[in-house]
Amino acid sequence: MTRYDLSLIGFGGVNRALAELIAERGDALEAELGFALRVVAITDLRAGSLVRTDGIDLAPLLAVAPGELDLSVLPGGSRDPRNEWVVKEVPSDIVVEATFTNPEDGQPALSHVCWAIEAGKHVCTTNKGPVALHGPALRELAERHGVRLAFEGTVMSGTPVLRTAREMLGGLAVTGFEGILNGTSNHVLGRLESGLTFADAVAEAQSLGYAEADPTADVEGYDVQLKVMILAGEVLGTRLTRADVPCTGISSLTPEDVRRAAAEGLRWKLVGSARRRPDGTVEAKVAPVALPAEHPLAGVAGPTNALVLHTDLLGAITLGGPGAGRTETAYALLSDIIGIHAARSAALTGAGRG
Ligand code: HSE
Repeated sequence: MTRYDLSLIGFGGVNRALAELIAERGDALEAELGFALRVVAITDLRAGSLVRTDGIDLAPLLAVAPGELDLSVLPGGSRDPRNEWVVKEVPSDIVVEATFTNPEDGQPALSHVCWAIEAGKHVCTTNKGPVALHGPALRELAERHGVRLAFEGTVMSGTPVLRTAREMLGGLAVTGFEGILNGTSNHVLGRLESGLTFADAVAEAQSLGYAEADPTADVEGYDVQLKVMILAGEVLGTRLTRADVPCTGISSLTPEDVRRAAAEGLRWKLVGSARRRPDGTVEAKVAPVALPAEHPLAGVAGPTNALVLHTDLLGAITLGGPGAGRTETAYALLSDIIGIHAARSAALTGAGRG
């Protein structure tokens, strides 16, 4: 039976939820998917690090409340996250990077991803910074080192939008897209409509695990800006910088604006969009839009996200599903691991035939 050893970099909500999936469903997943998963290292800014090359027993760690976890007290533990050493030196097959997103330069996640690839390890990440800002260079680095870089969870959490766009749209030309790509802001807009204050609605989204460590990125649109950049690369084959994607968030909308629009049959939504112009260039933006009820994005509520892909042969295709959440994003990492296994199995079968 194939087994993949994982190093988890960052042990906040998402990697912890992945560890829960492995602890609770590892055997069932193994039977269904044909491979086993074993965690050999965990690093975290607050909890420290733990390395057990014979496999970490996850259940006792998961029994400790997140804020109280101290890995340094365990055999193989340290108070220091030791990210560089763990990524480069601890033997593992896949580095799972889920530290906080930095929209300015993608660090320190960018270094984690580069170190892993250069050490010959596959990488799964939910981190938008490195992918949005340095996607093509990272992909090229991964190809050069013969490993895979997978990042389904960077857009719409576990909803398989990147995989669908990559694998299911052959023969179609995508001319543009528009989407609700941030669960926090969509949740906040809905809660403003039902009477909550802006601050209370944001706090609620934080407690539900939708918001970024710093929710400014959610409400000011920077999170969507990075997702638009990633999608533009994946579905339009275009590299955009942050300067190419003008960005306005929802913080200037008042509960009164939202309720007045609702009374008129309109719904304010934070929409990220891009479209190919006739000359082949791409224009993109992030902005709140008051959508009429018949628009495919108008009824998308709460942390649900949706993406409308405009295509030549099929017209508009709408994909919808969870856009945020710990377990939902952990599933994206699992789907990336399944993809790595499928590619490896195909390569082994191909080598066998050759
Ligand atoms: N903070 C993000 C959101 C998480 O609310 O959509 C998923 O990227």
